Amino acid sequence: MLSLLLFAALALTAPLEKRQAPSGVPAFAVTYAPVAYLHSQEQYFPSDIGSQLAHTEPRVNYTLITNISDPLSLDNLDQLNQFGRGGQDVYLTSVDDIETNPVWLDGVKPDSNGLTDGAISSAVIVNDHKDGVVDVFYFYFYAYDFGGVYFNRNIGNHVGDWEYTMVRFRSGKPKAIWYSQHSNGQAFKYPVVEKYNGGSRPVVYVANGTHANYAVSGTHDHTIPNINLPNGAVQDYTDKGAFWDPIASAYWFSYDASNGVFTAYDGSTPTNWLKYLGRWGDKQYADSDPRQEDILDIPGLYKYTNGPTGPEDKQLNRTKVCPDNGNLCIVRFVLGP
Ligand SMILES: *[C@@H]1O[C@H](CO)[C@@H](O)[C@H](O)[C@H]1NC(C)=O
Ligand SMILES: *[C@@H]1O[C@H](CO)[C@@H](O)[C@H](O)[C@H]1NC(C)=O
Ligand SMILES: *[C@@H]1O[C@H](CO)[C@@H](O)[C@H](O)[C@H]1NC(C)=O
Ligand SMILES: *[C@@H]1O[C@H](CO)[C@@H](O)[C@H](O)[C@H]1NC(C)=O
Repeated sequence: MLSLLLFAALALTAPLEKRQAPSGVPAFAVTYAPVAYLHSQEQYFPSDIGSQLAHTEPRVNYTLITNISDPLSLDNLDQLNQFGRGGQDVYLTSVDDIETNPVWLDGVKPDSNGLTDGAISSAVIVNDHKDGVVDVFYFYFYAYDFGGVYFNRNIGNHVGDWEYTMVRFRSGKPKAIWYSQHSNGQAFKYPVVEKYNGGSRPVVYVANGTHANYAVSGTHDHTIPNINLPNGAVQDYTDKGAFWDPIASAYWFSYDASNGVFTAYDGSTPTNWLKYLGRWGDKQYADSDPRQEDILDIPGLYKYTNGPTGPEDKQLNRTKVCPDNGNLCIVRFVLGP
């Protein structure tokens, strides 16, 4: 018993550089895995991916799906692709009225070791391009996104939030890192980003509420897509709040782009949820819903917006370190907002 406790204590206090992953995961995916700082005023922490299913029910737009064969689990979530245009119109919709602030929206604040105790809130997906390039995606899940306060109004909230960073490796060496932010993000060359404790692991600053990922602490204006400024109308805030080590509570998968197959490195973690093509939160509430508010009917300025799609929709087999979305791929070699 004592030896067991001692072992547990050692595992928890093991240096971050020695975090464990299932066998088969490339060592570099652990050595260079990002660590995160959440904002000091964050209220919506990382959340258990599977728990989202316990607090939601699947709807096609607003209509409950009643004829699902098996209770939903991470093992069979892709059965929802039979509904609503191949899953595209399926929304995992909160069972609770979110305006009553159900506690599950809060997620789990990382403990002093950076672990989200009892919550697997991260998924690591390795795509080996087979030409020396390996992309490792580190996905971060939150039960809720608080959009922010603009023009004195709270807008852009949604149930469910998927964000990620991706490190591109060439011959096992980290070359560049992508930080997801709203509909796009930023890329930096690996050598220029801040490293945790001067070691090898990049530091990610997670914006208050929106969970957008940035390379530096401070204020980030993202009014103009692709151009981040220190000040402006639409701002994100990052600082060194709670420390989070996403890979300490993660699922680990490889992805084969040639056939779209996900494989769990441990051979037992469910993979079918990764094939679900629907949303991880409520559909944007109708204008007639008393909870909804908007500014001048402008699409981006609604109080409640759609929940997000999952990892599969984030271009896991991209050409560049940026998503292939038509935006210029600028790989920055100086740090900035
Ligand atoms: C952070 O988000 C919370 C809501 O979750 C909000 O009350 C607070 O004002 C935000 N702080 C900053 C600096 O944006
Ligand atoms: C579920 O029920 C709807 C409405 O009755 C029907 O259109 C649909 O084909 C059914 N889907 C499955 C997978 O059973
Ligand atoms: C769901 O709503 C969208 C509009 O938001 C509509 O285009 C789509 O046809 C609807 N899907 C179904 C299955 O009714
Ligand atoms: C995946 O990306 C590689 C380039 O890295 C490309 O050769 C291959 O055709 C892509 N596969 C698919 C299925 O798009």
